[in-house]
Amino acid sequence: MSDTPKKMFVKSFGCQMNVYDAQRMVDVLSPEGYMETDNQADADLVVLNTCHIREKAVEKVYSDLGRLRKIKHARGEDGKDTMVVVAGCVAQAEGKEIVRRAGMVDLVVGPQSYHRLPELVKQAQAKPGVVDTEFPLEDKFAHLPAASRQRTLARGPSAFLTVQEGCDKFCTFCVVPYTRGSETSRGAGQLLAEAKRLAEDGVRELTLLGQNVNAYHGGGLDGKTWNLARLLEALANIDGIERLRYTTSHPRDMDEELMAAHRDMPQLMPYLHLPVQSGSDRILNAMNRQHTRMDYLQLIAKIRSYQPDLAVSGDFIVGFPGETEADFRDTLNVIENVGYASAFSFKYSPRPGTPAADMRNQVAEEVKAERLARLQALLEEQRQAFNTSCIGRTFDILLDRPGRSEGQLGGRSPYLQAVHVDAPHLKVGDIVSVKVTGKSTNSLVGELAGALLLSPAPEAHIMEASA
Ligand code: 5AD
Ligand code: SF4
Repeated sequence: MSDTPKKMFVKSFGCQMNVYDAQRMVDVLSPEGYMETDNQADADLVVLNTCHIREKAVEKVYSDLGRLRKIKHARGEDGKDTMVVVAGCVAQAEGKEIVRRAGMVDLVVGPQSYHRLPELVKQAQAKPGVVDTEFPLEDKFAHLPAASRQRTLARGPSAFLTVQEGCDKFCTFCVVPYTRGSETSRGAGQLLAEAKRLAEDGVRELTLLGQNVNAYHGGGLDGKTWNLARLLEALANIDGIERLRYTTSHPRDMDEELMAAHRDMPQLMPYLHLPVQSGSDRILNAMNRQHTRMDYLQLIAKIRSYQPDLAVSGDFIVGFPGETEADFRDTLNVIENVGYASAFSFKYSPRPGTPAADMRNQVAEEVKAERLARLQALLEEQRQAFNTSCIGRTFDILLDRPGRSEGQLGGRSPYLQAVHVDAPHLKVGDIVSVKVTGKSTNSLVGELAGALLLSPAPEAHIMEASA
């Protein structure tokens, strides 16, 4: 460890897995003497943790690098070095090209090599322009150190835990199988150890992450392969873990044990993110989704037969190549059938190297925009109706962040809605019963209803960006 702490700044784009990865990058570089800062201009090492899922990702990175070049230059005039690192899925996809186009980049590192960061940073200090986009044989997670107690406390009582990475589904629109590689699951022993440590450091809620999280099939403690339901059950037995969530699931991998877990496990929150992408069989087929519209609707009905009180969320793509108005209406129809509590929706964006990018009959931009507006209007109507239906109900809320005003705290309902509550005598990390009294556009407002249910936080969560 060097004497004077150096500062690192990580800017993450895209999905929650990148948020988790950003934390692990801080954890792996902290023994090297790096401290996280939220001030980019003050950082000795800047990481752009990039996302490649939709359009303009690459251009966005280059324009960010343009701004960074100026910062690097200005700091250089003051005699300070700035190491620029490009990580994440654009790094994986573009590799050497990044260094060729932006000579000021010191290091390009793909998501499978984060455990090598200390060594790669040293190499880049000696000779800038290092590129590592290998899929190494060693287990990245076995080499990534755990977060310190102080950093876990600062990150708050709700934590992410990557249990599975990569995808073998090859939906024709998606870059993930190329950037994150093939599906791999972490062993349960390693995950339970990480979860136990997080719980000891005040974490009360875990969101298990994976591009295809419900395809989880990791080595279990009994030498057998565990599925996600089995893993969730073991995690629920850890002292202090009160709530479990998981995302993102694929309809093909939704097994009955997982559905039963939604009925039987009180820790498993009644929320399911299950993307359908399109409601048209023709388009689903062209997308290589490996399920039909009816498969999806029947699946939702079946899950609801196990757990009727379930908020369903989804992802939708409009304007996939060849999508007609009739296909699009099939998507609207699925939405009407399911009733979504929340959703993410996107215009189809051709990704170089994916099969759909080369399909003829790409849909015009104006048509995509018009369909997206109609789709989002319907989804928003459903979201507001769902939020309204929660007024008057009482939920257990994990207070996971400071509120917007003095004495207020924020948390999530079991259905993942943001909830604000006046609770001057409570603290982040408490779980409390809250009666929902109203709503604003994006959140619910509630009041304390009864006693504090659980206040197990070992110390107050600091909830700052740096620690
Ligand atoms: N264009 C638009 N949306 C996409 N997604 C993935 N690839 C694309 C693409 N090429 C969306 C899907 C996926 C979510 C994470 O991003 O809906 O579920
Ligand atoms: Fe991409 Fe499809 Fe895999 Fe999801 S299931 S990560 S959309 S290829």
